[in-house]
Amino acid sequence: MLNNAKKIRQINRADFFNLGNFTEKIKFLLRYAILAPSTHNIQPWKFSIKEKSCLCFVDKKLYLPYGDPKTQNSYISLGGTIENLILVAKYYNFFDHLDYNYDKSGTFFVEVFFKEGVGMDENFTSFEETIKNRVNVRGVFEEKDIGLSVLDELLDELTKAKSVFGVDAYLITDKNKIKEIAKLTAKGMQTAHSNKDFRKEMSLYINNNLSSRKYGIHGFSMKAPLLFSFILPSVIKWFDMGKILGKLNFKSISSAPLICVLSGGDDTPVAWTKVGRLAQHLTLISQNHNLRTSIYVAAIEMGYENELMKIIGADKKPHFLFCVGYMKSKARITPRLEVENKLTR
Ligand SMILES: Cc1cc2nc3c(=O)[nH]c(=O)nc-3n(C[C@H](O)[C@H](O)[C@H](O)COP(=O)(O)O)c2cc1C
Repeated sequence: MLNNAKKIRQINRADFFNLGNFTEKIKFLLRYAILAPSTHNIQPWKFSIKEKSCLCFVDKKLYLPYGDPKTQNSYISLGGTIENLILVAKYYNFFDHLDYNYDKSGTFFVEVFFKEGVGMDENFTSFEETIKNRVNVRGVFEEKDIGLSVLDELLDELTKAKSVFGVDAYLITDKNKIKEIAKLTAKGMQTAHSNKDFRKEMSLYINNNLSSRKYGIHGFSMKAPLLFSFILPSVIKWFDMGKILGKLNFKSISSAPLICVLSGGDDTPVAWTKVGRLAQHLTLISQNHNLRTSIYVAAIEMGYENELMKIIGADKKPHFLFCVGYMKSKARITPRLEVENKLTR
């Protein structure tokens, strides 16, 4: 497994310029795209390479009926992939534009168009690097505030995002509000794990620490020691761990100096995909500054959006939430299915 997680991230920049045609270049960029985060690391994306563009869509076979009943997290994950693709295409001076679209059967897709350019755009160097190293961490944050310059940069992106993506974003630094959000997430975890079907579905995506599976969450990502990681899928399946996991989430979230909540407005694939793009963009900016990010969507997923709106004073339903802060403990990089497994005609 480790081999896959490391190998899949060994992308040599210079190789891009030795590739002869658009198809090969697009395939090369997709190696970055697939490093995006996804619910339970299911990697619900599919790509279809055209003459000078790439269609990106959700693989509906990978919907999670209990973990993601509204399917919004699949589209948020798709948005993360697309943001990676666009940022590296910009780095290689290869990006043209993108369209959000639906095909005749009503399937939503995003078409990213490319054009030949010269050299690299150094403004995107840090993104090219961070996309390869980004991890979703779980754990307690250090007691250290986020520097004003980083907060300014995030705020700047959020202001731009409103007009560019049509996504509303809230940055929460108030300790009391953060604690309330932590409590609500713990409640969401309890609700989720009290449902046998949710637990059964989730257990299918939990791997032991030595597993060579290229999707799903390995025990080490949840801080499970080696031996325990072997029984973790069964423990999750057969026992309601909601209270314990809720407590752990509460501890981690309440230690965060910053929480970012995003809302795309409508409940549509377009809005969710835009949320995913912005979430990935902000995550990468944060990690460019050596900050760590942790995603926690249990409150949103389990129907506590109204309570969350009250806490943060939002007027639109939230779609995504992540914490930002400094953390000493390192998280391990996670595996991915290779691009070839995600291509379709
Ligand atoms: C839409 C979405 C929802 C997620 N929800 C949670 C969550 O509630 N709790 C959590 O610990 N991780 C959550 N994750 C993180 C994934 O588990 C993680 O991205 C995946 O295991 C791959 O790991 P990596 O991001 O470190 O590569 C979520 C990710 C996405 C994209």
